[in-house]
Amino acid sequence: MQIKLWVNGVEQEWHVTPNETLLAALRRHGYYGVKDGGCQHGECGACAVLLDGVPTNTCVMLAAQADGHRIETIEGMGKHPDLGWRKTEGLHPIQQALVESGAIQCGYCTPAIALAAKSLLDRNPKPTEDEVREAISGVLCRCTGYLKPVQAILRAAAIMRGEQVPPIEGEVETLAFPTDWPGSGEDTPIAKSGSTPSPMVRTQVMPRIWTVMRPERQAMQRVGKPEIKVDAVKLVQGKPAFAADIEMRGMLIAKVLHSPVAHARIKRIDVSKARALPGVAAVLTYKDIPRVPYSTAGQSDPIPGPLDTFSLDEKVRFVGDRVAFVAAETEEIAEQALKLIEVEYEPLPAILDPADALKEGAPIIHDEPDYVNFAESDPKRNLAAQIRIDIGDVEKGFQEADRIYEAEYEVPKVQQSHIEPHVVVTYWDEDDRLVIRTSTQVPFHVRRILAPVLGLPVKRIRVIKPRIGGGFGGKQEVLIEDVAAHLTIATGRPVMYVYTREEEFTAARSRHPMRIRMKTGVKLDGTITANAMYVLSDTGAYGCHGLTVTGNTGHKAMALYVGDGEYRKAPNIRFYADVVYTNKPPSGAFRGYGVPQGFWAVERHMERIARDLGLDPIAFRLKNAIRAGELHPFSTAWSEGREPRPEIIHTVGLEECVAQGKAVIGWDQKFGNPEWHQVPGKPHLRRGIGVAMVMQGTAIPYLDMGGASIKMNDDGSFNLMVGATDLGTGSDTVLAQMAAEVLGVPLEDIIVYSSDTDFTPFDKGAYASSTTYISGAAVVKAAQQAAERIRIRAAKMLNEQGNGHGTVKPEEIRLADRKAIAPDGRFVTMEEIALNSLHHADQEQIMGIGSYVSPVAPPPFAAQFAEVTVDIETGQVTVDRLVMAVDSGVIVNPITASGQIEGGMTQALGYAVCEELKYDEQGRPREKDWLNYHIFRANEMPKLETIFVETFEPSHPFGVKAVAEIPMDGVAPAVANAVLDACGADILDNPLTPEKVWRVLKQK
Ligand code: FES
Ligand code: FES
Repeated sequence: MQIKLWVNGVEQEWHVTPNETLLAALRRHGYYGVKDGGCQHGECGACAVLLDGVPTNTCVMLAAQADGHRIETIEGMGKHPDLGWRKTEGLHPIQQALVESGAIQCGYCTPAIALAAKSLLDRNPKPTEDEVREAISGVLCRCTGYLKPVQAILRAAAIMRGEQVPPIEGEVETLAFPTDWPGSGEDTPIAKSGSTPSPMVRTQVMPRIWTVMRPERQAMQRVGKPEIKVDAVKLVQGKPAFAADIEMRGMLIAKVLHSPVAHARIKRIDVSKARALPGVAAVLTYKDIPRVPYSTAGQSDPIPGPLDTFSLDEKVRFVGDRVAFVAAETEEIAEQALKLIEVEYEPLPAILDPADALKEGAPIIHDEPDYVNFAESDPKRNLAAQIRIDIGDVEKGFQEADRIYEAEYEVPKVQQSHIEPHVVVTYWDEDDRLVIRTSTQVPFHVRRILAPVLGLPVKRIRVIKPRIGGGFGGKQEVLIEDVAAHLTIATGRPVMYVYTREEEFTAARSRHPMRIRMKTGVKLDGTITANAMYVLSDTGAYGCHGLTVTGNTGHKAMALYVGDGEYRKAPNIRFYADVVYTNKPPSGAFRGYGVPQGFWAVERHMERIARDLGLDPIAFRLKNAIRAGELHPFSTAWSEGREPRPEIIHTVGLEECVAQGKAVIGWDQKFGNPEWHQVPGKPHLRRGIGVAMVMQGTAIPYLDMGGASIKMNDDGSFNLMVGATDLGTGSDTVLAQMAAEVLGVPLEDIIVYSSDTDFTPFDKGAYASSTTYISGAAVVKAAQQAAERIRIRAAKMLNEQGNGHGTVKPEEIRLADRKAIAPDGRFVTMEEIALNSLHHADQEQIMGIGSYVSPVAPPPFAAQFAEVTVDIETGQVTVDRLVMAVDSGVIVNPITASGQIEGGMTQALGYAVCEELKYDEQGRPREKDWLNYHIFRANEMPKLETIFVETFEPSHPFGVKAVAEIPMDGVAPAVANAVLDACGADILDNPLTPEKVWRVLKQK
């Protein structure tokens, strides 16, 4: 049918099919700024446009319904401010504010947020913060925690009203590093004793970032500055930057038939009817492709886990497992073909509770003879992995304790819920090499792992990673690339496969659910004498990441409290774990990587011990916490995939984090103050305050490797090529800042390209909080090489100029402000050096290449505080405020780093109070969409505050440690500890749903 509509003011006539959604039609016509969240039910808002000025989700509307209407997409909203000789009006003020305020992380939700904001400001030029939050509440963002988008919109509104707003840089508040702690005042970090607190700008239109800086920290030009993200402008314009934003002639659409049963053998499968359907190009079953065991875990070689997965198998192991692949001309035909596949299953008994997996006579989930064992896996016992670590003499430690505390805690399965689904496009290029354009965190691992699965050598595969709409570990999995690749091999044609949101919930990865038993020996003065943890970890149907995720549960969470006095010198720690198969969807990597699970148990346990012994919960923790200069207790006992080696922790900013966090949240005024716990006039409400202390890691020592290369262009700019994978975190920007710092140029002179296995150096990918540290060190090495060549040439040029000046040595030259500057003030510009080196004399390409592997994994530390209100009649927990004080070493970019903390705390908030995947007695999932699986919206958020306590990590050239994962670790236990403080409800399993809290309160 023919429809007429106006898109961005231009009249258009489109031919659309009767059942085509407006989303599909817009994208078919090249409006790639309209994003597909895969939800199909209008839950995420990524697909929103303005329809006659009103935000409207296009996935739930037929294209035909747009006939006669006016549509605005992000493409109509503003132009790049610099398009050469053609003058433009630049970005819309809303776009500009989103860019400047650091409101864009992955950018997948950004077009819809910008349009929702425009609709609001067109109607209401002076909105309140609540009105802004309400206006964008239809758009889910999994990255930002909404704080910066809200501030950006308020800022844009002020600008559009003609008001003056301060520049963003003025808002980064740098405090002196305190040498003592002179008391506290609510809502203000502590300033150095004797100094006046720095003035704090308190407008609503700015991100407020507090950084506590060591006095010895050197001033730097680019590192430490709130630079604008290098990809922000294209993302705010909705440019076709993501994996699905591509058109190819003859491209087929892939679909997968998923198992409806939890455990069965495929007795008969008949695809003849599906193959005969017009428009179907291929239908593949396990009979059609080679049988190659592999692991989907995107990790370095050798994969630290069993090879227990096949692209297609004659057995299914969970509801959602793969049965057949289809490629067809359209999505509708592919879906029809799935319905025509006849499958007869021979049902097998299923294991749905991990405790049943280890029982004598339990059904065996992996009975295939070609299963490849890894270390401690034992498929006959449904064991994907086993860990047994004893440090010191744990039994002696228990004997020496005055009290022994034992308890069992439980954590649920939760989902990454990145707004961009998994997307892959595969095609043969003109050299018959297979190109895989995919939304992945691990492009180099994808290439290596898939090569044997596809029967291709590595050199005939090219993996391209475009922008990624969030990953959070979910895309550290080689999850769907093989589907499209097998179908391209079968048909010779390009194939696109995009997960639906239902597939994300039922067939993708999730956080490992665990049961965790703690046993802790303590002296009456609060000294921990021995600490033991046993974990029963549910890896689901496949063992991907099972060993390493669960290993980290102990390696990080059990390393924080070593004990005090003689126990500090020789800690007694035990960590045992069984990682078992069940017939549930596989667990995998999820931001935090096993550590949030561990800290739920450890921090709930510490709180309960402190309260039982009548000790101050903060003093008790700090008494036993690890300190700078001490050995990481696990460093000689366990490492991910490599031999453990002793490792000293050089920087621990935990005490400073506690002091700053306490001051901001007003701990001393609230904790133990009965009056504060009451809400005047509301006797059914109780207030509570809670704390948790946490540590993470930074990369995997002796294993994680990052590479970078850099080359100089004619105008003195540089191309920086990194294999590192920016999945929305801002790592491209941070890496560019480090290169700019070394080379003495502004950020705009560094053009970053990441990542493409044909063009960029190897990098293990975005995981283990390692990019700033590992890939950053590689970038610094590469830039230093280039800088050395620049200095040599600059010295030569200056010496040739002579003019009576003395000889300049290369090592005397300083690079700054796009110049190479001699000690006497003479200089040559970067452009002059570039032209000289490429065209004029002794020509050479000035370039550098570096790679880096770290011998250490310096942990970041944090103190997490939470303030809650509990309705003791309904059990409803409202989290009012989250304050996190973080020691992540030197902060390279306070805006992107604080965005990581805010977004991480928000994800962790879901873990605390509402997120959980559940299954019925036949293993069928209850949560298949965002209607049933709640993630926080802009109008539901607590107040979020971040404080950076800088330490200088000596193992990195700029002193950095990791920042991305640690905000996941402490929110849930801090909230639960606050609930305990508020009303006495002592909950051992998260999330703290109203029903759970209500039941506990009822029993009291
Ligand atoms: S609301 Fe349309 S894709 Fe999510
Ligand atoms: S920035 Fe909002 S979903 Fe990533």
